[in-house]
Amino acid sequence: MDISIKHIADPAAERCGCLVLPVADGGKFGALAARLDQAADGQLARLVKSEHFSGAVGKSVLLHNPSGVAAQRLLLLGCGKPGATDAAAFRKMVMHALGAVQTTGAADLVMLLDDVATNERDRDWQAQQLGLLAGAAGYRYTHTLSKPEPGSRLKKVVLGSATRPSAATVRALDEGRAMAAGANLARELGNLPANICTPSYLASQARALAGQHPQLHCRVLDEKKMAELKMGALLSVTAGSKEAAKLIVLEYRGGARGARPHVLVGKGITFDSGGISIKPGAGMDEMKFDMCGAASVLGTMSAIAGLKPRLNVVGIVAACENLPSGTATKPGDVVKSMAGITIEVLNTDAEGRLILCDALTYAERFEPQSLIDIATLTGACVVALGKHASGLFSNNDELAAELLAAGNHTHDRAWQMPLWDDYQEQLKSNFADVANIGGPGAGSVTAACFLSRFTKKQRWAHLDIAGSAWDQGAAKGATGRPVALLTRYLLDRARHHKAAD
Ligand code: BES
Ligand code: MN
Ligand code: ZN
Repeated sequence: MDISIKHIADPAAERCGCLVLPVADGGKFGALAARLDQAADGQLARLVKSEHFSGAVGKSVLLHNPSGVAAQRLLLLGCGKPGATDAAAFRKMVMHALGAVQTTGAADLVMLLDDVATNERDRDWQAQQLGLLAGAAGYRYTHTLSKPEPGSRLKKVVLGSATRPSAATVRALDEGRAMAAGANLARELGNLPANICTPSYLASQARALAGQHPQLHCRVLDEKKMAELKMGALLSVTAGSKEAAKLIVLEYRGGARGARPHVLVGKGITFDSGGISIKPGAGMDEMKFDMCGAASVLGTMSAIAGLKPRLNVVGIVAACENLPSGTATKPGDVVKSMAGITIEVLNTDAEGRLILCDALTYAERFEPQSLIDIATLTGACVVALGKHASGLFSNNDELAAELLAAGNHTHDRAWQMPLWDDYQEQLKSNFADVANIGGPGAGSVTAACFLSRFTKKQRWAHLDIAGSAWDQGAAKGATGRPVALLTRYLLDRARHHKAAD
């Protein structure tokens, strides 16, 4: 999707496939709609009346070939109570508009949102959201369809502005667009089946990204190297699989040489059968999405490489399959992690934490300013938070607040969960330093507690995206979350860094 912002002095003269014009509750016109209605000789007011158009958020009416207006179509878009369009309503109305125009033959649209006052947010926020939402609307999965249905003709979205947009607003739109492109990469990787999207495939995608951006550098560690590093926990997960495990390291160097990086670590289980503790068959296909944490790291790195903030970022992806076989790890096996901590594998289906603990230990060598792992870690997180919020756990309240703020700003939201010592007891083992499961209560918390054993020296946070990473049902597919949250978090760090030096 081609997404841009443009100063439009005379909307009636704007040639485009569809002009989108907000109308408030009760069919009330703002300044822009009133002006266009005048140009159209009252046609818009008559339409609102005859259609009993309420102006509610999530509703619209379409007009073909409006008289006195150069656009081929005009979409009157409900924006609710004037001055009371909150973040959620704004997103809903923009998504509705994009969907409605996508059902027409329009190849481009111009959205005129000057009359929409988002009470808690400013123009820059609106521009970022438009970039995010229009970018997301442009994604379609086709990779394994031999005859994909023809998609929408809509290829271009323009945010029209009655005043000349400021540099900050243009930048905000760029950021939203880059976040959406990164999220779309994450969606594509998530949606690809596990027989295509293997650990080696993820590695080749990371290398391809590095090939596209001079500030990205990629290194891939193979199993031999992992064995040398004594990554016994990670290797125990891949033991049952014929696919080679990969530890992918993607570095973005945009800051001062030697400036400590922010490090992202993604869970990249390209298929999670559960291993010997095998999962039930129903819905097991969804475990191809168990690499969405890894995908979000690659998507974020690509967004960052495109936006070029002044900071250093390292993306680490631990990738392998979790399958049963004669060589697979068995319940009760004790493995030794890179950190030297021994782990009793009471359930081979709690494999995410086993690959992450070694990747987190590996991350120490970068002396991160912040260390964040992203993982489809627990079904318990889905029970706790559903699909709307990612679970956030951190040993540092300042870092947690920064991540929550980034999520709120992009509407890619997270909710903080406890990481109290009280829960640590559940991980006691009689045969190793720690067990890999913590019993029936608070499964997402004990999983985070497990990881916390390996990040004591770090300013660390963990995002459990088991609920937010993909949708089920008719819209089944990866969501690209939390690429927007992570990208916003990193951009904000660069901003603060700049102010400080
Ligand atoms: N990848 C799953 C978590 C998951 C389950 C994500 C369902 C999304 C939907 C993870 O590897 C897993 O299997 N976790 C187990 C842990 C349990 C054995 C302690 C779980 O959540 O059941
Ligand atoms: Mn599992
Ligand atoms: Zn898993």
